Amino acid sequence: MNTAQQLRAIHQYTYEKMKSDKTGHGFDHIQRVVNLTKYIAAQETQPFNYLTAVSAAYLHDIADDKLVTDVQASETEMKNFLTSIEFLPSQIAAITTITHNMSFSKSLENKHQQLSLAGQMVQDADRLDAIGAIGITRAIYYGGAHQEIIYDPKIKPRKSFSKQEYRDLDNETIINHFYEKLLKLKVLMNTTGGKLLAEQRQQFMLDFLTEFKAEWTGEK
Ligand code: ADP
Ligand code: NI
Repeated sequence: MNTAQQLRAIHQYTYEKMKSDKTGHGFDHIQRVVNLTKYIAAQETQPFNYLTAVSAAYLHDIADDKLVTDVQASETEMKNFLTSIEFLPSQIAAITTITHNMSFSKSLENKHQQLSLAGQMVQDADRLDAIGAIGITRAIYYGGAHQEIIYDPKIKPRKSFSKQEYRDLDNETIINHFYEKLLKLKVLMNTTGGKLLAEQRQQFMLDFLTEFKAEWTGEK
């Protein structure tokens, strides 16, 4: 199989797995992360492995513990699939190293692994989809699905938190999620293309929060 055929096969595999997702990780999220990865790749001047980057973009949420009950089984199935479309063990390892180490919660751990340039691109692409207008929409969609309240000025955003606390949604408000995570992503961008897009999206979120708070009390 050539690279184009392999990427088509991965597209189809991911589409079948994600098409019915209702958690904000549907195939629309995957397609945007793939497209953002390609955009970032086009701005990049350093050498990187394109096939690894685009494959990891497609596959980054396939074996996520938020989405599947048996992470190990999903991971094994994915590796078998990649073998069946003629990926070498070293190529599969490059992809899974990215998917294991790119998440925000992983970056809260002390001994997280430095990502390859391909991995940094996918990480930026995934984070770009959590900010800006799409990011606002996904946060509200997620918050509604997890019974979060919208906003309470008395509940202050946590300044820092461990990986476990990050998963603990008690007392989370949708607006606090912006301060605890989304507004922090801009400075964590790795790549030139990622930094560029994050700039506009950050400003859009800040404007949204200003307007939201101005409207919150309904007094004007
Ligand atoms: P991904 O795996 O794509 O990086 P997550 O699974 O962490 O993203 O989250 C999916 C979407 O839901 C993101 O846009 C994220 O900002 C949003 N989200 C995650 N946790 C919360 C929360 N506690 N409140 C509101 N939105 C959240
Ligand atoms: Ni994702």
